Amino acid sequence: MKILRAGILGCGGIAQKHVQAALNLKSEIELVAFCDVNETNARTFAEQYTANRATTFSDYRAMIERADLDVLIICLPPFAHTDEVELAAARGIHLLIEKPIALTSELAWRMVNAAERANVKTQVGFMYRFGAATQKFKAEETGALGLFSARYFCNSLHAPWWRMREKSGGQLVEQAIHLFDTMRFLCGEPVSVYSRQTNVFHRDVPDYTSEDVSATVCSFANGALGVIYATNGAIPGKWLKGWHVVAQNLVADFSDWNNATFTRTNAQPPSIENIAATQDAFTLQLQDLVNAIRTNGNTRTPIREGARTLDLVLAAARSAETHTEILLDAD
Ligand SMILES: NC(=O)c1ccc[n+]([C@@H]2O[C@H](COP(=O)([O-])OP(=O)(O)OC[C@H]3O[C@@H](n4cnc5c(N)ncnc54)[C@H](O)[C@@H]3O)[C@@H](O)[C@H]2O)c1
Repeated sequence: MKILRAGILGCGGIAQKHVQAALNLKSEIELVAFCDVNETNARTFAEQYTANRATTFSDYRAMIERADLDVLIICLPPFAHTDEVELAAARGIHLLIEKPIALTSELAWRMVNAAERANVKTQVGFMYRFGAATQKFKAEETGALGLFSARYFCNSLHAPWWRMREKSGGQLVEQAIHLFDTMRFLCGEPVSVYSRQTNVFHRDVPDYTSEDVSATVCSFANGALGVIYATNGAIPGKWLKGWHVVAQNLVADFSDWNNATFTRTNAQPPSIENIAATQDAFTLQLQDLVNAIRTNGNTRTPIREGARTLDLVLAAARSAETHTEILLDAD
């Protein structure tokens, strides 16, 4: 079995998780190239993780042309996406791309079209989909959905690009997007979205144009509601997340993608199951891409899913700007 040759584009924070995932799958995939506009970052990765065996680049076009890759793992900040998906897809290179895949719907769908036209396998970094509790929920007979609710609470200035709305898209587009994707994955497609987003805590911080408090309501065709709220003014140093699904037969309280309490309300008395797992969602996500490449199968989160979830959070941002409910394309 051929070991797949992988390159990393953007050697920053999240790239380390993908490197670790690749190292966990070393009989399947080998890291042969690293690229970063700041080539020192690429060199540090090559030294630290491959004892300098990998080649380094500062220009993604050069890496895509010369590194003979089977897989490209794209860990660029949101504003830095350009034509890397199109160039890689045209060379038959399979892709794992971090969320949000772009900052505009137009670029996102150009990426989808390029990848689908070239028939390359794609995976978007919505790793919540690979948790044990998430998977268990997918196998449940939940009955009708009534309510999804979720929170994302942190308090950090993050990277300098993060606080600038034009570079990150804002907290909802860059960060709480995981919860919107999880809602779509667990509950299906919403038909409308209404969002309010404000900056309460960081008005005096230079360049801080992202919202730091938001509340969003989505509605579903059967009348069910999804409520997602986020803030970057909560407890410093803590990233607190959780989500809940109330359905006809089941109430599911998730503390993360691996841990949840399921209360089956169609039993008398209701039965309670605790799901507690430690599986590594990043490794499972990469393994799923490798499997799709080897079997010509499908990944769990093809790039089309990245574009659809992006469209949902962009609609929420538009709703917040216009103070109107946005009706969504149900297709
Ligand atoms: N899945 C998750 O839970 C998760 C967590 C954190 C970040 N992310 C996502 O990953 C992406 C990257 O985030 P990060 O925290 O690693 O950012 P980061 O700022 O830590 O790293 C980004 C790296 O990309 C490099 N870079 C920027 N423009 C480039 C270009 N044109 N060509 C090559 N390299 C370039 C930077 O020099 C930097 O080293 C973001 O989209 C973010 O939303 C996902």
